[in-house]
Amino acid sequence: MFFWLITHLEDSATTKQILGASAAQGWRCDHVVPRRQNYLLTATSIEELFPGEVREKPDFCYVRMGSSAFIEGFALLSKIASLGVPCINSPEHLIVQRDKAQALLTLSQAGIPTPRTLVIGRSYSKDSIFRSVSGPPWVLKSRFGAKGDGVMLVESERSLTSALDWLFGTYPQVLLQEFIAAQAGTDIRVLVVAGKAIAAMRRSAPDKNEFRSNLFLGGRGQRVELTAELTTLAEDAASALGLTIAGVDILGEAGSYVVCEVNSSPGLKGLSDAMGEDLALEVVPRLFSAVTH
Ligand SMILES: Nc1ncnc2c1ncn2[C@@H]1O[C@H](COP(=O)(O)OP(=O)(O)O)[C@@H](O)[C@H]1O
Ligand SMILES: [Mg+2]
Repeated sequence: MFFWLITHLEDSATTKQILGASAAQGWRCDHVVPRRQNYLLTATSIEELFPGEVREKPDFCYVRMGSSAFIEGFALLSKIASLGVPCINSPEHLIVQRDKAQALLTLSQAGIPTPRTLVIGRSYSKDSIFRSVSGPPWVLKSRFGAKGDGVMLVESERSLTSALDWLFGTYPQVLLQEFIAAQAGTDIRVLVVAGKAIAAMRRSAPDKNEFRSNLFLGGRGQRVELTAELTTLAEDAASALGLTIAGVDILGEAGSYVVCEVNSSPGLKGLSDAMGEDLALEVVPRLFSAVTH
């Protein structure tokens, strides 16, 4: 097995975990950092792609390029995919996933429950907002963003209009969502690889003053059992977005779960810690099987 790990996250715990697992298992893994590379846009083969470097065509690319420097990496990724190397996840699916509006639309069109969401443009009317999405509270989100950045809880009509006026100074559009109150301050992260849900944890915000459960913001993860309901919902969500590896975030409670978002570059470290196992050892071979079967 020979793969390229394509990521800008040179020091991240997950990058180290994947490189460590590869070294320990004797898998051949080259780390490619798109923004460091010179590459030839007109190359007709992988061997020709990086001038002055000797590179062989890998079996596949494991792409971890969610929010960080996406644009710098995207053309290279498209080029690699066009030269016949399977990219997990593929560029055309990454572009849909990173836009929260497009991703939620794709999920809801596939019949997957999501929080009721309004895309708000600059000439909004307050009444139309109050009529379309129940609240307060509401959750306001930037269309592009990760790790909890650009996600805010709005607890009154008065703060909603002032928050919107302020956000429109930076963003052309924002998303307003119903607040999912059941199990608030927590969500369930399910890791789906090659169509199968393989691990899950409940993530909890660090304290009662925080409603976002992202581990990056100090949230804690605790292993949970993958029930049939969680498994089906997570696998369907990953499949609707065409993602071979996905971290599916689920809000609410059993019987009325909704999918908050689907991450295309899920971190492995927090979930491995919660599961008490090195998930890189399971993920990488599954990605390899997905491209060879
Ligand atoms: N509609 C919502 N209702 C309740 N909590 C929410 C809602 N949307 C997001 N959250 C909380 O905020 C966190 C971050 O939101 P998310 O949309 O996943 O943004 P990011 O892409 O930055 O992770 C979620 O993991 C969840 O804990
Ligand atoms: Mg999230």
